[in-house]
Order: sequence, then C-alpha cells, then structure tokens
Amino acid sequence: MGDRNTIIETRSLTRKFGDFTANDRISLAIKEGEIRAIIGENGAGKSTLMNMLYGILQPTSGQLLYRGREVSLKSPKDAIALGIGMVHQHFKLSPSLTVYENIVLGAETVRTHAVLGRKIPGLLIDSRKEKEEIQELIDRFDFNLNITDKVADISVGAKQRVEILKMLYRDVDLLILDEPTAVLIPQEVDDLIERLIALKKSGKTIIIITHKLNEVKMCADNISVIRAGQLIGTVPNDSSTTNESLAEMMVGRQVLLRVNKSGKSAGEKVRFAVRNLTAVDSENKKILNNISFEIHENEVVGVAGVEGNGQTELMLALSGLMDVKEGSVTMEGEEICGLWPDELRKKGIGFIPEDRYQQGLCLEEKISNNIIAGYHELPPYCKKGIMNYRVIRENSKKLVKEYDVRLSADADPTVGCLSGGNAQKVIIAREFCRDPRVLLVSQPTRGVDIGAIEFIHNQILAMRDRGAAVMVISSDLSEVVGLSDRIIVMYHGEITGCFRADEVNFSELGLYMSGVKHMSAEEMLPEKYAREKEAAANERE
Ligand SMILES: Nc1ncnc2c1ncn2[C@@H]1O[C@H](COP(=O)(O)OP(=O)(O)O)[C@@H](O)[C@H]1O
Ligand SMILES: [Mg+2]
Repeated sequence: MGDRNTIIETRSLTRKFGDFTANDRISLAIKEGEIRAIIGENGAGKSTLMNMLYGILQPTSGQLLYRGREVSLKSPKDAIALGIGMVHQHFKLSPSLTVYENIVLGAETVRTHAVLGRKIPGLLIDSRKEKEEIQELIDRFDFNLNITDKVADISVGAKQRVEILKMLYRDVDLLILDEPTAVLIPQEVDDLIERLIALKKSGKTIIIITHKLNEVKMCADNISVIRAGQLIGTVPNDSSTTNESLAEMMVGRQVLLRVNKSGKSAGEKVRFAVRNLTAVDSENKKILNNISFEIHENEVVGVAGVEGNGQTELMLALSGLMDVKEGSVTMEGEEICGLWPDELRKKGIGFIPEDRYQQGLCLEEKISNNIIAGYHELPPYCKKGIMNYRVIRENSKKLVKEYDVRLSADADPTVGCLSGGNAQKVIIAREFCRDPRVLLVSQPTRGVDIGAIEFIHNQILAMRDRGAAVMVISSDLSEVVGLSDRIIVMYHGEITGCFRADEVNFSELGLYMSGVKHMSAEEMLPEKYAREKEAAANERE
C-alpha cells in the first residue's frame, strides 16, 4: 500500500518505443495538494510519463498507483473517472462552439458514470443546471470567461482557461499541465501561475511540465528532474534550489544561463532595411502589413511576438520563399526583394530557418552534404561544375569539430541520426562559416537542449560582434531580450512596437504582443531611434 497522503505514485514505470526506452524505471510519489514541477530538456521523456498517468500511453512495465491502489488506465476516460485530468500543450477545443459547449462536450459519458442509470433525456433538461455549475466554477476560481462566447473569438490565455475548466467540471483532483506556458504572453503566464496556486489552496494536486525554470521557482512545492528517460532526482523548491542547480541536474553538467553580451555598441551603418513590406494570403487578406525596420552593422534586432502573428511569413518573405505584394528589402542600399534564396546567399545573407527539417536540412543526406547545402555550387566545394569531395569531407570534419556537433561512432552519419540540438548546429555551422554580413534567424533554439542553446547564443553574438546585421525571430521572449540590441514586436502581421532591449521589460512587451498597446508609425521611425541614440551619447559625455 502507498502512503495515505500520496495521491499518485509510479513504481519503476517504464515505457519503450521499440528498442528505445523513453521512460526508464521511474519511481516517484506526489502528495495530495502539492504542485509538482517535472522538468527536463526536450526529449527527456516528460510527456511520455504524463501520457501514462493520463491513460494515453500504457506502460511497458512497472506500476501506477492512485490513492494507494494499483490502477491500469486504458484511456483518458479511465483517468478522468479516477479524478486525473490533463491539459495538453496544443489545445483540443472546437473553435466554432461556445465556451459552455466546449466544456460539456464529451462529459456526457462521465456524467452517466457518475449517476449510473440516468436516462438520456435527463441530460437535456440538465443543461441549465450545467450552465449554473460552470458559472459557479468560473466565479469560484475567478476564471474570467463568458460561457456564451465562441471559442474562436477568445484569447489564447482564455482558451487555456477553458481547457482547465473542462477538467475541473469533470471534478478531477489531480490536474496535469504539459508545457502550459509555451503559448502564453508574460501577463498570461503570471495569471496562470496565480490560478494554479489558488487551485492548490482549494485542495487540488497539480503536476506542471515545463522547461522554464523561472516559472517552476514561482509555483512548485517540489521539482522532479528527468534526463534521458530517467528520474535524476526530486528537490524541494527552497533557497538551496537555484536555476543553476536545476539546469545542472537537467543537463548533467554546469551551464551558463546568462547570455554574455560583449557590451560593444551597435554600428551606425544600415546593413539591412525593410520598407513597407506587405504580403497577402490566397484570400487577399494581409498577412504582413506595412512592415518597416532596419538593422545596423553589429546589431541584433529581435522579433518578439506570440507565434502565429506573421513571424513565419516575415521569415519566408525575407528568405525569398514567399511573394510580397508591396514594399522593398535592401541590403547595403541594393534592392534584394524578390531574389531567390541562392541569390540572397551569394550576396552574403545567411539563414537559420524556423523549421530546420523542412527548410534547412535533408534528413537522408550525410552531414558532409548538409553542411554545404545551398552553397554546394560555390568554391571551394565546387569549381567549374566539378565537386571536390576531398574538400567537402575535410570541410565537414573541421566544422563538426568547430561547432561541436556531437557524433556517435559514425564520422559522417545522416542528419536524421542527430538530436535536434546537433542538427541545428549543422545549419549554424553551414551558415556562419561563410561569414554572412546579414543573418536572418528564426527560432534558433527550439527543441534544442540547454547545453546547445548556450553554444548557439554565443555563436549568434559572435557573428554580431564580427559586424553582421542579425535578425532573430523567437517565440521565447527571454531569448529575444537576451540576444537583442533592439526589439520589434509583431501582432496580427504588423509591427506594434519598437524598443531598445535594455530599456524594456517583459510586461511592457506583453502589452504590445497582445495588441493592447500599439505605437504610432511616428514613434517607430528609425530617425527617432537615431535621435535617441544621439541624445543618449550626448548625455554620457
Ligand atoms: N510515439 C512515439 N514513438 C517513438 N518514440 C517516441 C514516441 N513518443 C515519444 N518518443 C520519443 O521518446 C522520447 C521522449 O519524448 P517525450 O516524452 O515527448 O519528451 P519530452 O516531453 O520530455 O520532450 C523522445 O526521444 C521521443 O522521440
Ligand atoms: Mg513534451
């Protein structure tokens, strides 16, 4: 029998996918009424573990105990019937239905479970009572939702509250949240964390999965760290537990969590300028609306924003992969809008694409070929149409070493064999070794392990210090703030704000990311930036 206070416990829980062990004999116990954070790098096995607790995946071996009794969960239905609920990172709501409809959707079965023998017509008559119950939950937990609103019309944060409410309505005692903050703006993150603490006070147990250490520190009672499928340990969230100590547990070695900027100020010369760039989709709706910004030499301009606000399209347009309707893009004064990617590369622009597998790499090809892709027709790899395979091999060997691409036995494996972080390093090596004068970077560390993040950030800053004009698009706000000299914010395909990175805080950025605030074109003029810079310089004198 498990401890009376323990709500859920795993004993040697193991899950294999073929030969691969995603969860290796994980034993942990979570007490009723605690907030437990489960942290670990991408691919560590966190979701696999949670999916077993919620009946989505079945263990290969080991036991699962709920309130001291061994249980076997065939599906989420079994989990919910016991009192275990889960909210996934990608919401599973029906946008065309109302908040109320989404919450009761699928609850019918649970309700008949709860009130066995109840006839179907009873459910229909009950809809008023259901609405009352939902409203009562909204009021009790201060969920700030209108049950008649259509889900398509509410914010991302509100959608997440609907998902949580859906679980509370099913009367779960244990709520699992898998990476709940990935899609939220800073204000929504704070909101969610407050709400989780309130839920805990009302007696719920919460498991929160994340890889954001600050959030963990804000709400968890205890923190369990998973690395490569194994439980490394569980620590209390007290003063002896720091971001650094947690990162070390996650990665297995010491890591530097700060981005080390050189302090060198941005240059005067405009390297890259985008003017009034507008693009439309197939229905003639503007997906990029009058985008203007410029990047100086020795400067990183970060693009902040909640994903899906035009960042993907901006990157495609600037990489020559999408047609634009109006506007211009110049590099050192020369118009380059409409050029093909290979022409842009020849002009000295490097790209780190958002989707490294779709646009950056060929999984079936060896590293040595991937590491020259896009540049393969240029010397020294190719001269007069003849490939020089010796040079290509040597080049690859050198770059693999220089950019710390970790290989196992094979010296030149296909890229498909590499982890996300190592695959990303292949792209970085390829683009950076040409010493581009302009670097366009999108989501550089998504799905990349913490150790490699540090390396990639340092490489980007080194390019900046060598003179490159760098644009970094990222949905990770700390990354944008950490790397940039200036930050522009995108919302609904437009730029809503422009800031110096050392003068803006997260919550201010959040207001522009959510469209609450919007600067006028005047306020964002590059001339204004130049004036400010001059004034700041004068002040220093
Ligand atoms: N259905 C599956 N089939 C094969 N491998 C999987 C499957 N689900 C997860 N994995 C692998 O298991 C490992 C852990 O994945 P996951 O639990 O999603 O990690 P995390 O949530 O910590 O990022 C990864 O290497 C992933 O590729
Ligand atoms: Mg996961």
